[in-house]
Order: sequence, then C-alpha cells, then structure tokens
Amino acid sequence: MTDSPAFPKDFLWGASTSAYQVEGAAREDGRAPSVWDSFCNLKGRVDNGENGDVACDHYHRYADDVALMAGLGLDAYRFSVSWPRVLPRGRGAPNEKGLDFYDRLIDRLLESKIEPWLCLYHWDFPQALQDLGGWSNRDSVGWFADYAALCAKRYGDRVKRWATVNEFSVFTLFGYAFGWGAPSIADRAVHLKVIHHVNLAHGAAVDTLRALVPNASIGAVHSVQPMRPETDQPEDVEAAALFDEHWNWAFPDPQLRAHYPPRIAAAIEPYVQPGDMARIARPVDWFGLNHYAPVYGRKDDSLIWGFGFGSPPPEMPRTDVGWPYDPSAFREVLLDLTKRYRLPIYVTENGFGTKADETPDADGRVIDDKRVAYLRDCVGMMGQARAEGADVRGYFVWSLLDNFEWGGGYGTRFGIVRVDYATQARIPKESARWYADLIRRSHNPE
Ligand code: NOJ
Repeated sequence: MTDSPAFPKDFLWGASTSAYQVEGAAREDGRAPSVWDSFCNLKGRVDNGENGDVACDHYHRYADDVALMAGLGLDAYRFSVSWPRVLPRGRGAPNEKGLDFYDRLIDRLLESKIEPWLCLYHWDFPQALQDLGGWSNRDSVGWFADYAALCAKRYGDRVKRWATVNEFSVFTLFGYAFGWGAPSIADRAVHLKVIHHVNLAHGAAVDTLRALVPNASIGAVHSVQPMRPETDQPEDVEAAALFDEHWNWAFPDPQLRAHYPPRIAAAIEPYVQPGDMARIARPVDWFGLNHYAPVYGRKDDSLIWGFGFGSPPPEMPRTDVGWPYDPSAFREVLLDLTKRYRLPIYVTENGFGTKADETPDADGRVIDDKRVAYLRDCVGMMGQARAEGADVRGYFVWSLLDNFEWGGGYGTRFGIVRVDYATQARIPKESARWYADLIRRSHNPE
C-alpha cells in the first residue's frame, strides 16, 4: 500500500462536520439563535455577509448525506449537536423536535454501520445564555453540565463516543481576545474567566457523561499547531511563547496535567477557586487532535495580549487560504502529544481549504489535486509518526462537505464533497475518491 504505510486493519477513518456549519434550518422546529447567528448579522464580519441560515441544508438532507458517507466507506462520522436547537433558552425546557433530529441522524448512521462521534459544543453558544454573560458567568459550568446530561440521557444508549468541546483555544481566542469571531469581545479579564469556566465546564461534562452513559469513550478536541516565532528577535520569541501557551496548552494542560502553563497560570489565578484544578482534570479516554498548519507568532501591540499572527518564511509554500504548507508539522505534533499526555490520539480534523469554486469539468469531475496531495502527505506523515511510536488510532477528514467556514463564509471550501449552494447538489471530488480508496485498501490489505 503506497499511500498508507503502517495502518492496522482496525484504524478508524471518518469525516467531520459541525452543526452551525452544515445544518441550516436556523429558524425551524423551535431552534433559537446562537451567538453565531447574532455575529453573522453584524455588518462586515463574515465574508459577503453570509450566514448559516441554510448552509448545506443537512437538517433536511441528512439521510442522503449518510448515504454519501456509506458510499465512501467511512467508519465514523463526527458531528456536533446544536445546543440552541435542543435547548432554545440554553437551559430549562428541551425542544423535542430538535432532539428528534439527532435521533434520526444517529439511527441512520448506525443502520449504515457508521459510528457516531458526538461533539457537544462546536461554538454555537445559545444567545439566551450569552445575554446572561455567557461563558464569562461561572454559572455556565452548570448550564453546560445540564445540557450534557440531556444529550447523555437521550443518545447515550446508542452513542458511545463523546467529545465535550471542539477547539477550546480557537473559539475563546477569536471570540474573546481578538474579537474576530462570536461574540466579538476583546477583553483580557473576560478572556481569562472564559478560559477557566470552559475548562471547568469540560470537567463537569466528563463527570456527567461518565455517570450517565455506560461504556462511554470520552475525549476533548484540541487544536494543536506548532508555534514558531516569526523572527528570532526577543520580542517576537516572547510573544510567540505566550501565544503558544494560549493556542496550544491553555486547555489540554489543565485537563490532563491539572495545571495551567506558566504565563497563563500567573494571570488566571484570581479566577481559580480551591478545588478547581481537580474539577477540571477528570480522566478522559482519548485526545482529539485538530491539526492544519504551523502558526507563526509575533509581537503585535494592536491586539490585547501583545501577540498576533506573523508571516511564515517567504520560501514556505502556502495553501489557497494562506496557511503554511508544511505536512511535517503533523508528524512533529503527533509525536510530541504522545510523549506529553500518553493518551491514544484520534485526529478529529485535518483538511485543506481552497478559495476557488471547484466546479465540475466537462466529464462532471471535480479535480482538487492540491487537496489530494495535501491529504496524502498528511496521511503519510501520520503513518511515519505511528511507526516512530505515536499512538494514533483514527483520522477524520475536515470536512465531509463544503460548508460555512465561519468568517470565511461559503467562499472557503474544505469539503471532499462539493456542495453547489444554488441547488444543494453534492458532488464527490477527486479527494473523496482518493479517500474512499485509501479506506478500502486500509481495511483490506493485500
Ligand atoms: C477548525 C474548526 O473546528 C472548524 O469548524 C473549521 O471549519 C476548520 N477548522 C477549518 O478552518
């Protein structure tokens, strides 16, 4: 097998999406707004003023989408539940129609022999709770645990794989420090409180899931990208070190080692109460890794923490969306994480974004060579890392479908399946064919 050295037959291959990015049906069957619905209404915040009102219409087309997954031979599908769809006020009375949707989706996945991986929170925080202070209110810990309990009781008979939160550091940095994502806040004290409360919420959700779901396999999903200073000037090196703590370690270190990284520890102390670190560091079963590209950090006094995004060296290739193209970083991260936390790793996201509308050619094929090359390089790096001792057990491509790429709207495409937003037609790209072939060969070695 040329593409996939060293993957055992039971290695898990899947694809990921998230609720706000694919579901649409934003005002249907009792769903209430999340902070992302509100953010999209702000002028000039999302490319072309786009929003998730319709997205991929997955809410109505989920059965076809599951059939598509089955056609590709996926072993697993990672999706998220929309908190304001199942609890429109964020707490209190559940919305039966919203809960039903995930029953249907889960049942269809199981009938198709695709394992559901349920993520509780992929950034669509209920606006009703944001109005009470959102994650900066310590009560959010209890709100999240109650929401986790609702999902555990409803789906725990069929769903065994649970993730608490997706990319803690990215949504907190972008939403509460840079102000570039919902709820568009840039405030050090609020950011620190949010970090701590989200960590506590994770711990509380782990306990809740453990108590309510027999044989649950529980993890959290972290964005880990090697942080490199833009230059070797001391101010860039120090700024990148603080950025590294915030981006990479502010969540997994407390959750898995019961302490904050040093610079954050000093700043966050006023918000930490006795017993909190033990409440955060509840045992989990696996580490969910979302990996894309190294980040170059530099001193930037226009942003509240004094760090910001720098440029990669000019000789480094970049993807269409401007991210450094350096698949070797993937191997580095897998090996580092295996040493650092000693947990099985599932790659819960890895993928390639384009700005071009990848339209079908005369034969109806969508040729996305660059995506195929990137995914092949990454899978190769993952194989190498495994051979060198990295404990990686599965891989989910981001994403099954082109979808709403947050601030990038629909103009940025990550899917291995093209979505024609005018008709909602799905067309598997060459990358989908390549992936299906990889999965088939991985499970049926010659
Ligand atoms: C990370 C996020 O979890 C996902 O929502 C996003 O679309 C992809 N990366 C691509 O940027």
